[in-house]
Amino acid sequence: MNVLEFPDGSIKGSKLKFIEELEMSQYKKWQDIYKEIGAVQTNPSAFVQEAVPVLKKYGVKRVLDLGCGTGRNTRYLAKQGFQVMGVDKSPDAIEIARIKSPSIKFEVADAREIPFPENAFDAVVCTHVIEHHLEDEIKKIISEIARVTRKGGLLVLSTISSRDSAFGTGKRLAENTYIGLDSFWDGGEIHHFFTRTELVNLLGRYYDLLDIRHSTYHNFDPSSEGYHKIKIAHWHVIGIKR
Ligand SMILES: C[S@@+](CC[C@H](N)C(=O)[O-])C[C@H]1O[C@@H](n2cnc3c(N)ncnc32)[C@H](O)[C@@H]1O
Repeated sequence: MNVLEFPDGSIKGSKLKFIEELEMSQYKKWQDIYKEIGAVQTNPSAFVQEAVPVLKKYGVKRVLDLGCGTGRNTRYLAKQGFQVMGVDKSPDAIEIARIKSPSIKFEVADAREIPFPENAFDAVVCTHVIEHHLEDEIKKIISEIARVTRKGGLLVLSTISSRDSAFGTGKRLAENTYIGLDSFWDGGEIHHFFTRTELVNLLGRYYDLLDIRHSTYHNFDPSSEGYHKIKIAHWHVIGIKR
């Protein structure tokens, strides 16, 4: 097990090295990344940090970090005083998360069948997980999240947008759904790109949406000749369970 952690902010050295490693075997899945490289997402996501005051305002205590990876957001939420549990379907991610934070509960579990009872949590945080599924599975995951969240509890969700520059690249599997994307670390995973309407329809079945925002930023892909500019486009949502 390679538990490699990139030092915060050292984008030049570490990210380039990471890209070189990925090029040796393109189109990785998350399980391959964890097994071969280790923890790659280490800073808590900005949106989760922004959501903390909202979680506190709504009296949230028990939080499930669904698809937690190696636990960057789980750790951050634990430090903020929440009772957190992280689950991910990758055993390697969970092993790394446990090594990094032995006091936090981490379990291997599938978001399509969350192994907890109804109303078990006050909030579910789910960042960049639902996009790795086909439409029926996405519906199932959202119904599972709603099932384990108490009435009045919160959903904090981030996912990818159809306005991302990777949209339409790779092999098309279904509407807005692609695999084999060159510009993503995890190009071997399914990527479903969401429109606002689709997210509102999917989540609106169970949640009143307090906040749905689109964020874009531009990045230069240093692995491409000519330093292509790429646009990263995400959706960030906070919903309150009806
Ligand atoms: C892009 S990473 C995000 C990890 C973490 N949420 C974060 O933001 O750092 C996607 C994660 O979702 C996990 N994942 C994908 N599908 C899943 C599923 N059906 N059940 C549980 N975890 C899943 C992968 O193993 C991977 O760790």
